[in-house]
Amino acid sequence: MSSQIGNPAVLADVHQVRVHDETVQFKASSAVNLLVAMEQARESVIGIGCRGGGCGKCRIRVLDGDYETKRMSRAWVTEEDEAQGIVLACRIFARSDLTIISEPLPMAYGYQPGRSSSLQQAELK
Ligand code: FES
Repeated sequence: MSSQIGNPAVLADVHQVRVHDETVQFKASSAVNLLVAMEQARESVIGIGCRGGGCGKCRIRVLDGDYETKRMSRAWVTEEDEAQGIVLACRIFARSDLTIISEPLPMAYGYQPGRSSSLQQAELK
């Protein structure tokens, strides 16, 4: 007899992730981080790098919705950033539907975004 208790694939909720000012949407299981969810949906709206919180390439801002985070490097997301919803997609898990926007690091950090996007020009409230 097998038990489904503790099997995240069975217990996970699925949430809708909308990208601000874009038509792109994808589903995100609460059992996987947001970057993995995006890859599973075969979308490419978030930068992909190390997949483990070490490079900052998946930096986004969550404009709306609830999520849980794993520990994030302060080299990529300061406490002030985090308070404004800036997170690493590879370190968060959706707990409701989300609205997100790409939030590349400022050039002062030496990060060169791999993708130019109108998302970055969107006016944030
Ligand atoms: S992919 Fe490197 S920090 Fe998320």
